[in-house]
Amino acid sequence: MKELRVNGERLWQTIMETAKFGGTAKGGVCRLTLSDADRQVRDWFVRECEVADCSVSIDEMGSIFARRPGKADTPPPVAIGSHLDTQPSGGKFDGIAGVLSGLEVVRTLKEAGYTTNAPLELIDWTNEEGSRFTPPMLASGVFAGVFERDFAYSVKDRDGKKFIEELERIGYHGQKKCPDHKLGAYFELHIEQGPVLEAEKKTIGVVTGMQGQRWYEVTVTGQEAHAGSTPMHLRHDAMVACGRMVEAINKIALNHPPFAVSTVGLVTVRPNSRNVVPGSVFFTVDLRHPDDDVLLHMDGELRERVEVIAGESGVSANLVNNWNVASMEFDPECISQVRKAAGALGYLYRDIISGAGHDAIYIARVTPTGMIFIPCEHGISHNELENTTPEYIAAGANVLLHTVVAYDAARNAAMR
Ligand code: GLV
Ligand code: MN
Ligand code: MN
Repeated sequence: MKELRVNGERLWQTIMETAKFGGTAKGGVCRLTLSDADRQVRDWFVRECEVADCSVSIDEMGSIFARRPGKADTPPPVAIGSHLDTQPSGGKFDGIAGVLSGLEVVRTLKEAGYTTNAPLELIDWTNEEGSRFTPPMLASGVFAGVFERDFAYSVKDRDGKKFIEELERIGYHGQKKCPDHKLGAYFELHIEQGPVLEAEKKTIGVVTGMQGQRWYEVTVTGQEAHAGSTPMHLRHDAMVACGRMVEAINKIALNHPPFAVSTVGLVTVRPNSRNVVPGSVFFTVDLRHPDDDVLLHMDGELRERVEVIAGESGVSANLVNNWNVASMEFDPECISQVRKAAGALGYLYRDIISGAGHDAIYIARVTPTGMIFIPCEHGISHNELENTTPEYIAAGANVLLHTVVAYDAARNAAMR
């Protein structure tokens, strides 16, 4: 078993093969949750899991579970998962590297004729990104009891389409209850989505936890007016107020170095016409910090700045805090297994805290969970240029393979 290694070339080819589902001209992927491209990659994934001797089932949130039998059927499965959905201008690796490394682990075990004690389960969670349907990590959140299933079903995209309608439309509204079983442990491999591992020439990040996040939606309401005949001092320009708010929100993070980050990533201006003073602007805010107290402080500053700027600008602003997640730590035993596997395989590694959200943070609430990071080029992610190397992916998948097998063996020994 010590000698067992994944087939890195096959894994890389598999990632390239799936990149055609929703592939963009610039070499990225646009595979929004429950889009046609999402259906295509799911169909492909189900087929490949079956070829790898897994039995596939779909739950009522559309998540795909591919189960490889263990020596015993009763212990809860050791699970590997991530997501196949992407941002609108996403890359080929965010989420996908985790799911397909799991597939490569299953393929490798099959070829080696190795059967784990507990079953293995490979999972594609629906709607990790939260770009089309907010909040993110929606299906893993329902699985972990964070969200109600019916709340998830009612969530609408920006065109007013409901999650449940789109789930049915692509044919992935499964029969299985969410959740209908417990997981024995959960491991997720992911690209780092930041520059630390690459800068420090480390191959593996042993993820110890994740920073807290708060998401908001702000609607600024002013007054639409003629762009030629309305003097500057008589305007209620929602866009100008929004611009000042964006600047202030940027400063909130700059005022809490070095970890705070703040982003206004989605802006809709109405009526969006060149000769109309904008009457209303909708925008989103994403605040993150590893320390929940600092994050709460940033929340207070955000509310204060939005209110003051609205008053000064002669507009009104309505701020809704629509999603929060506290910072968290992964399971010490899972972290230790990842660290041991990385060391035993001879890779350079370091502990790291995740700046991004992952399904693992919700699953960690209901099962022992760990994560493995690999470097990505220049730390760039949520970008069509997102890239990594076949060597890094293979290294991460090898760590995943050895972590899962060692965890399974240790748990089996402990149960005797
Ligand atoms: C997930 O992609 C995030 O925004 O953290
Ligand atoms: Mn991801
Ligand atoms: Mn992402």
